[in-house]
Amino acid sequence: MDTLIRGGTLIDAEVTERKDLLIRDGRIAAIGIDLEAPNGAKTIDAGGQYVMPGGIDPHTHMELPFMGTVASDDFYSGTAAGLAGGTTSIIDFVIPNPQQSLMAAFREWRGWAEKAASDYAFHVAVTWWDESVNREMGELAHEHGVSSFKHFMAYKNAIMCDDEVLVNSFTRCLELGALPTVHAENGELVYRLQKQLLARGITGPEAHPLSRPPAVEGEAANRAIRIAEVLGAPIYVVHVSARQALEAIMRARNEGQRVFGEVLAGHLLIDDSVYRDLDFTRAAAHVMSPPFRPKAHQRALWAGLQAGHLHTTATDHCCFCAPQKAAGKDDFTKIPNGCGGIEDRMGVLWHYGVNSGRLTPNEFVKVTSTNAAQIFNLYPRKGSLRIGADADVVIWDPVATRTVSVKTHHQNVDFNIFEGRELKGLATHTFTRGQLAWVDGDLRAERGRGQYVPRPTNPAYFEAIRKRAK
Ligand code: URP
Ligand code: ZN
Ligand code: ZN
Repeated sequence: MDTLIRGGTLIDAEVTERKDLLIRDGRIAAIGIDLEAPNGAKTIDAGGQYVMPGGIDPHTHMELPFMGTVASDDFYSGTAAGLAGGTTSIIDFVIPNPQQSLMAAFREWRGWAEKAASDYAFHVAVTWWDESVNREMGELAHEHGVSSFKHFMAYKNAIMCDDEVLVNSFTRCLELGALPTVHAENGELVYRLQKQLLARGITGPEAHPLSRPPAVEGEAANRAIRIAEVLGAPIYVVHVSARQALEAIMRARNEGQRVFGEVLAGHLLIDDSVYRDLDFTRAAAHVMSPPFRPKAHQRALWAGLQAGHLHTTATDHCCFCAPQKAAGKDDFTKIPNGCGGIEDRMGVLWHYGVNSGRLTPNEFVKVTSTNAAQIFNLYPRKGSLRIGADADVVIWDPVATRTVSVKTHHQNVDFNIFEGRELKGLATHTFTRGQLAWVDGDLRAERGRGQYVPRPTNPAYFEAIRKRAK
């Protein structure tokens, strides 16, 4: 059935215009002033509201097996919660165990993701190296639409990459035209600091940020960026939380290097005082890596986002409930790392970004959707309001308010890091490829509606970057 969205103000990354938008067969079919409703079309009045591309969260971990447990939001519940907040696509991570075949892990994740309610793509992590990894990266890139590979520089004795793996994998990425991405924390230093803190009897969640100070992130970000510089590869730094990592990105960008940065909604808003909460459950609920930082870092991150040094906003959505977090009751290093946020990212960015005057509505679309689509080769199918694009569309009421709460959220987790915040601006309608999945507080997400979206590589462009870097 056709749907005509009438009377709204369309905003994409470039323009703001008062036009109607017609959805047909899951795609944007027409945009114009006073469009006629085709016979039998459903008409939605978007007067006083914005109509924009659905959000893309480029960093999630649905049902991730991690630190001895499994993340509580699965591909259905997590993507459904995203739709309630205006997010219509995710890029999740396939994370093979060391020595595990990348293709075997990819198939496993593809199976889990079949229940997703919104569209999804995958980055694949490189956690070890041999000739089979080299070969399977090619298979993933050429035959399965994987055009970004992830490298964890932390989590020693688990999924951490040393410099040799980084160099091998970045080189292969460059050859394939795929984007290397990094979780930038020096895992050796984290390991050393964790041991020292435990030896001093500091075992609670308050030790978590002490074991991962900003310099640990700054060092790793700088190292990864410099390795990429030497190889002539572009690079994307996930969840930048510290001023030192941001400065490494800015320095390299000022020198002409192709570096992208991602910031999490949580890191923009929440400071490290959460770890000094004497209630273990509340403090542990905030344990994620990198940790929440002192307030000065948030000011730097907002400035970095406004100035265009940080390009995307994500959540690193990776939920664990209180009984799971309790695994680290006597040893903070055993608290599963991760927090939620997919449902609230758009609202948080609108309220603290647009309402505060830090971002224009068009910039909001860029940092919540279009930039991720362009960097990760989903554009213009996703992240745009072009004719022919997937009708992943959000109708956004800029004056409606809601108070975030675990009591009303749709995420499958017993805690919300944004609890109690009153946000002005919310999604009244969310379409996933033309189907209404969220209407004025009514979640109609459909299990299995989501499709895998392959993302092509770009070898010619990467070769040009490499030649220029020489
Ligand atoms: O604490 C986090 N961020 N957990 C998920 C895995 C990761 O590091 O991204
Ligand atoms: Zn990470
Ligand atoms: Zn992550």
